Amino acid sequence: MSDMARIIDRLVQRSVNEYYNPYQHFEWPPSIDEGDLWMSEPLISVYGTPIYENLDRPQKLCLAKWESVNFYSMNVHGIRELLLEVVNRVHVPGFEEPSRFFHHFIGEENEHMYFFAKFCTNYGGKIYPTKKIKIRENKDQDIENIIVFSRILIFEEIVDFYNMRMATDHMLPPIIREINKMHHQDESGHIAFGRQLVVYFWRRIKEKSSLSEITSVQNYLREYIISGMSDFYNPRVYNDAGLGNGFALRSAAISHPARVEFHRQVTKRTVRFLLQHDLLEKEVF
Ligand SMILES: [Fe+2]
Ligand SMILES: [Fe+2]
Repeated sequence: MSDMARIIDRLVQRSVNEYYNPYQHFEWPPSIDEGDLWMSEPLISVYGTPIYENLDRPQKLCLAKWESVNFYSMNVHGIRELLLEVVNRVHVPGFEEPSRFFHHFIGEENEHMYFFAKFCTNYGGKIYPTKKIKIRENKDQDIENIIVFSRILIFEEIVDFYNMRMATDHMLPPIIREINKMHHQDESGHIAFGRQLVVYFWRRIKEKSSLSEITSVQNYLREYIISGMSDFYNPRVYNDAGLGNGFALRSAAISHPARVEFHRQVTKRTVRFLLQHDLLEKEVF
C-alpha cells in the first residue's frame, strides 16, 4: 500500500493544516428571508421540466427552500450511514494504514453532520426522514468493503457537485454559500482517499472472485447511483412547497429527458472513474 501511504500522509497533513472549528466558524443568522433563493435554480429537482416552468416566483422560492432543507437532510442521513461503516473499521486488522486518516474523516464527518442538521432544524424546523436501504451483509469481507467504500465515494461525489455550485452562487444567502464551501473543501480530501481505497479493494476482488460476483458488484453500484439521484425527488418536499400530489410530481419529473441529462452531468466524474476501473460496465444514464 505504498502509494496509499503517501496519499494518506498528504491528506492527514492537509486535514491538520486546514482544520477549523465548525462550532465557531459559521455566522448563523436568526432566520433566512423567504424571499431569498435557498438553492441554486439549476439544482432544483424539477428544473428544466414544465413543472418548474409553470410555477410562479413565490412557488419557485418556496420549492427552493424545501429542496435546500432536503439536500442537507440527505447529507445528515448519508453521513450517519458512512460514519457507522468507517467507525466499524478503524484500527481493525487490514485497515492499519487507512486508520491514520479515518480519525480525520470521522471527526470531519461528525462536524459536517452538525452543521447540516443545524441548518435543517434552524431554518426548516425539521430534518426530512430517510428510507434508504441498508448496506447488504456480505460474507466476503473484500466484497463488503468495496460496496461500503464505493457507496461512500459515490455519495460524496454527488454531494460535491451540488456543493461546488452553491458555494459560488451569489444569488444564495451567505450562510448557504459558506456551508457548501466548507463542505467542498473537506470533501476533496475524502474523495481522493475514497478513490484510493476503492481501487485497492477492487484489485483484491478481481484477483480472486468469480465473474458473477464481479457482475453483481457492478450491478449493485449502478443501482446505487440511480437511487442516489432519486433521493433528490422527495414527495414531502413537493407537498411542503404546496405543489399538490408529491408522488405524482416525483414520477413525472424523474424520467423527464432534461432531468436524465442532469443526472448524467452530476454523476459524470464518478461514472467516468468507475468505468475506468471497471467497477461499472456501462454508462448509467
Ligand atoms: Fe462530509
Ligand atoms: Fe466526506
